[in-house]
Amino acid sequence: MTIQWFPGHMAKARRQVTEKLKLIDIVYELVDARIPQSSRNPMIDEIVTNKPRVVLLNKADKADKAITNEWLRYYEEKGIAAIAIDAQSGKGLNQILTVSKELLKEKFDRMRAKGIKNPRAIRAMIVGIPNVGKSTLINRLAHKNIAKTGDRPGVTQAQQWIKVGKELELLDTPGILWPKFEDELVGYKLATTGAIKDTILNLQDVAVYALRFLTASYPNRLQERYDLPHIPEEIVDLFDEIGKRRGCLLSGGIIDYDKTAELVLREIRGDRLGVLTFEKPYEEKVEAE
Ligand code: G4P
Repeated sequence: MTIQWFPGHMAKARRQVTEKLKLIDIVYELVDARIPQSSRNPMIDEIVTNKPRVVLLNKADKADKAITNEWLRYYEEKGIAAIAIDAQSGKGLNQILTVSKELLKEKFDRMRAKGIKNPRAIRAMIVGIPNVGKSTLINRLAHKNIAKTGDRPGVTQAQQWIKVGKELELLDTPGILWPKFEDELVGYKLATTGAIKDTILNLQDVAVYALRFLTASYPNRLQERYDLPHIPEEIVDLFDEIGKRRGCLLSGGIIDYDKTAELVLREIRGDRLGVLTFEKPYEEKVEAE
């Protein structure tokens, strides 16, 4: 489900996360490994102030492994705990508890020092923008299907704890925060990866971004997938070539650009061009035209 975020919604979502923070020891910030920066909530550093945090690079199965490793090194250099995971298959999830225990060692040692022999389980919550995989992760960790609550900020309900083994408890409802919509490039990346629905941005604009990105970063894959002897310089020519080869045509043999855009995006999202990562750490911001 896609939601339109208004200032009121944002304030409410922020309030809800802030409320839940009181209940937990640690925050798991879920981001999309293909766009670790663009899939972050822009205010997360302000919202999560006094709790340790682990960044979970989810959907790592769909991301370029070498760049995921670059991101992991980047976080390490910044002293931020980060793990690459695949919530769908469960890959990487066993590291979550290990890292959490390390981050909370002092807190739990203090509890023991106060005479608490068997400190309670670590309490955690997952936060992230819509579609980043929060429900999938909760279900995977819980080993059952917990109904997904709508991505509607403002729905209040009683909190439940989900036991993940003996040492970890998870809030059953994740904190849903907004992506950074005001930046055009961020919007294109979110749309290309399918984090936001196709009705929000112009489909052709998104495909133009995606094709320019592929031309610059993965030219061989683009050529191979669409059987292109070379990549045309003009984007409209690239659309024409792909549209022609894939039969995205209107009557009279005119290229159907909407259909071509849809096809390209569907194939990118379905990994038909291989695993892709759309942003690297320390990258200069490249403006989308
Ligand atoms: P949310 O709660 O944060 O909104 O996200 P949710 O778990 O609903 O996940 C959004 C989509 O991302 C789902 O696909 C889900 O299956 C997929 N997903 C989540 N984690 C991973 C992962 O690690 N790897 C991959 N490849 N996909 C992941 P969907 O198409 O919306 O639904 P469905 O077809 O899976 O039912």
